[in-house]
Amino acid sequence: MRAISIKKPGDAEVLELVERPRPEPSRGEVRVRIRATAVNRADLLQRMGAYPAPRDVPADIPGLELAGEVEAVGEGVTRLALGDRVFGLVGGGAYAEAMVSHERALAKMPAGMSFEEAAAIPEAFVTAHDAMVTQGGLRSGESVLVHAIGSGVGTAAAQIGRAIGAYVIGTARTQDKLDRAAALGMDHGVLAADAKFAEAVLAATDAAGAAVIVELVGGAYVAEDLRAVALRGRIILVGLLAGAQQTLDLGLILRKRVALTGTVLRARPLEEKIAAMRAFEAQIVPLFARGKLAAVIDRTFPLARAADAHRHMAGNTGFGKIVLTC
Ligand SMILES: NC(=O)c1ccc[n+]([C@@H]2O[C@H](COP(=O)([O-])OP(=O)(O)OC[C@H]3O[C@@H](n4cnc5c(N)ncnc54)[C@H](OP(=O)(O)O)[C@@H]3O)[C@@H](O)[C@H]2O)c1
Repeated sequence: MRAISIKKPGDAEVLELVERPRPEPSRGEVRVRIRATAVNRADLLQRMGAYPAPRDVPADIPGLELAGEVEAVGEGVTRLALGDRVFGLVGGGAYAEAMVSHERALAKMPAGMSFEEAAAIPEAFVTAHDAMVTQGGLRSGESVLVHAIGSGVGTAAAQIGRAIGAYVIGTARTQDKLDRAAALGMDHGVLAADAKFAEAVLAATDAAGAAVIVELVGGAYVAEDLRAVALRGRIILVGLLAGAQQTLDLGLILRKRVALTGTVLRARPLEEKIAAMRAFEAQIVPLFARGKLAAVIDRTFPLARAADAHRHMAGNTGFGKIVLTC
């Protein structure tokens, strides 16, 4: 099979197309003929040598999500059969024409969904749903602040927020992303080119602040979050694009009784990933089938052009997911 390998840590040109043997599924696993995967920030970090792959996936092949058909089944597989169209999360290795996964870490694709759409969904929607709803406890009628609303995770969070009846406030550094996010269900956009947004969030919430904050940017945004968050608000720290170091006013955490929670999907053990996938399958996948949620695809590249896809993501101009077809 063809796969994209990280030759050595470095810039996008270290990604090279290689031939690898197809992996064999073990007990409880299936092998998926991958038709599409998508690019994540973690892939860029892994390529630069800053985010090693977990031990149970190929060390040099990036790729955290996939959509394709089951082409081989291991012993004891009960939920899936040959030919099933599936999508889901993996710990790495999805920049390839095939890979194995535990059957319970995959979900069946809704009828009528394309492989490109399906590949654009798992990482963004599982992350957004898990952070905002499962961990953040967002309820109908509450306000949620989603940073980098035009990102893959941000566009998913905006749609899930609308679907559950929350008041969705989003930030971006360019107006065009706010305009596009409004079409996805964002109620109020805040242009945060200077990393300042608390005043605008308080103004949009009758001074109450946001009940839940999906923090995809990190750095100075977290200090500003503490001013923008409501009493007993929940801040879920998902990404650190603007940095991992920040001075915080702990008095605000104390007085507002804020819950500040960090989260990662990739490093979770299989049983926790399976639990997140089951919640996604039960609560989110049906909303795609009913047209309440949609994949947001920024651009599609063939697998062989993974390096161009990485450069495009690093440019920060995209809206939604970058898909690779295999
Ligand atoms: N914890 C987890 O399990 C998990 C899973 C998936 C993703 N993530 C994280 O979630 C975040 C979003 O990921 P994604 O794949 O959805 O991203 P993406 O689609 O690549 O979009 C990221 C967007 O963030 C904004 N941005 C980038 N650098 C910024 C900065 N220094 N300050 C402010 N805004 C900045 C840019 O939009 P604007 O310039 O228009 O604002 C950019 O387009 C990343 O931090 C990623 O690492 C975490």
